[in-house]
Amino acid sequence: MARRRKKQKIQKPSSEIQAEALNRFQSLLSQEEFAALQEALEQPLYSAIRMNPLKVTPDEAAASLSERYGWQTEPVPYCTTGWWVKSAGVPISQTIEHREGHYYIQDAASMLPVELFDFEDVPAPLILDMAASPGGKTTHLIAKTMDRGLVIANDSSHDRITALRLVLQTWGGSHTAVTRFPGEKFGRWYPETFDRILLDAPCSMQNLRSTESHPMRSITARERKQLSHRQQRLLASAIQAVKPGGQVVYATCTLSPEEDEVVLEAMLNQFPGKVEIADLSARLPLPAPALQTDGRAVFNPAVQNAARLWPHRYGTSGFFCALITKLESVGGSFEEPPSRPFEKISLFCLSQEETVNLSDFLVEHYQFDLNKVLEENSLTLWRRMEKIYAIPEAFLTHFNLLPFQAVGLLLGETGVNGYELSHEWVSRFYPLFQTGRFGLSDDLVESWLRGEDILIESGDQYSAGMILIVEDTLGRFLGLGKMIRDQLKNLLPHRLAI
Ligand SMILES: C[S@@+](CC[C@H](N)C(=O)[O-])C[C@H]1O[C@@H](n2cnc3c(N)ncnc32)[C@H](O)[C@@H]1O
Repeated sequence: MARRRKKQKIQKPSSEIQAEALNRFQSLLSQEEFAALQEALEQPLYSAIRMNPLKVTPDEAAASLSERYGWQTEPVPYCTTGWWVKSAGVPISQTIEHREGHYYIQDAASMLPVELFDFEDVPAPLILDMAASPGGKTTHLIAKTMDRGLVIANDSSHDRITALRLVLQTWGGSHTAVTRFPGEKFGRWYPETFDRILLDAPCSMQNLRSTESHPMRSITARERKQLSHRQQRLLASAIQAVKPGGQVVYATCTLSPEEDEVVLEAMLNQFPGKVEIADLSARLPLPAPALQTDGRAVFNPAVQNAARLWPHRYGTSGFFCALITKLESVGGSFEEPPSRPFEKISLFCLSQEETVNLSDFLVEHYQFDLNKVLEENSLTLWRRMEKIYAIPEAFLTHFNLLPFQAVGLLLGETGVNGYELSHEWVSRFYPLFQTGRFGLSDDLVESWLRGEDILIESGDQYSAGMILIVEDTLGRFLGLGKMIRDQLKNLLPHRLAI
């Protein structure tokens, strides 16, 4: 029987794809602006990093990392935790601090959307990140709220959930839950529930800046239209799910008007007088208004309040975002959300007695005050088999039946010799562990980071099976090790070993 050959889609070279997109966008810009854009595309696109205030003091960390690794940095003007790295002795992706989540590598344009939210009047907000994977902007949301309230990081793609979970583990937030549902569902399942919603929409990525990790691909008019319809449905769901008075940020990394201005225009038509697009001109260092027209339709003047970042404006890749306030209720249908009680997945609240045992163990071995951390962070402890998780109270209060892929932060697990802490818990609360540390000499750091065990001559001063917190001579956390006879067994998670 003749086998049907699978049709291979041949991808055009990236220069051709970029030229195609440029052609399409030319009529949207004046002659001078288009020339400026072409010139900007000849320049390098600088990498940028965003610091993690849960683990470092951003300004201090930027200064010390620049000195340590020979980086030339410059602040991103609209993001207080963001820096461009204009030249780097040691690559930004190859440092101990990057592996430990002290900063996230992110294009500077992607730092704008989360910065648009106001959080002053909501110190512990309920936030939905509707299309979250791999989680760059979720980490920003966690940072902006200093891990208070709750961020539900949702993504409909099964294949992209693992990446999202790993990014969040490395960042170290505890007030998070990862879910896997079509974003279109949230409006009907949870109407008027969230204080803030980020919709970083799936898009055609026509941002004029191909990188190795995000190559631009060629796209047909039909695909753009389909994407536009999906974006409109997702945005309508976000508007329904946000509380009256709450904010939604709509963002894309494409410059195609069908996916940007046209989506906002559709929202204004669907919810007349009930939503408002904030004028971003006062918040941005340079003007970056959205389009008045795409050459066919003239948009509602309010659409221009959004920000369209052409690459020549801020030296970023192309980007679009809008800050929307829901002025009043929009009604709409309600549907019962899915439900899965904790018992169904054998997740049970830690008993009082076990909490006391665990807390005594942590004081004895590490001088770590568990109760203080739980209280200050509004966390409670839950056990699933041998694993113990710290789960935010906001999740328990508002979403305890929502089926999740992950929730909270793994504290550790029960082992033969008591409790074994997780890498992510120690990495997050590292300065609070006052004892139980093991200082690694400089000559051993490289092999340790490759995941190798090390021999310890005076091993008998540690009890067998004890988990030690390994640090280098600069006091940086390098992972956990387990004492087995005269060896320190390397417990560095595989994903972190070089
Ligand atoms: C632009 S990416 C998000 C990037 C992410 N916000 C970040 O900053 O790292 C868009 C995401 O939307 C997801 N997605 C696509 N369709 C979706 C839908 N209907 N509901 C929820 N997520 C969807 C994709 O799997 C993809 O991960």
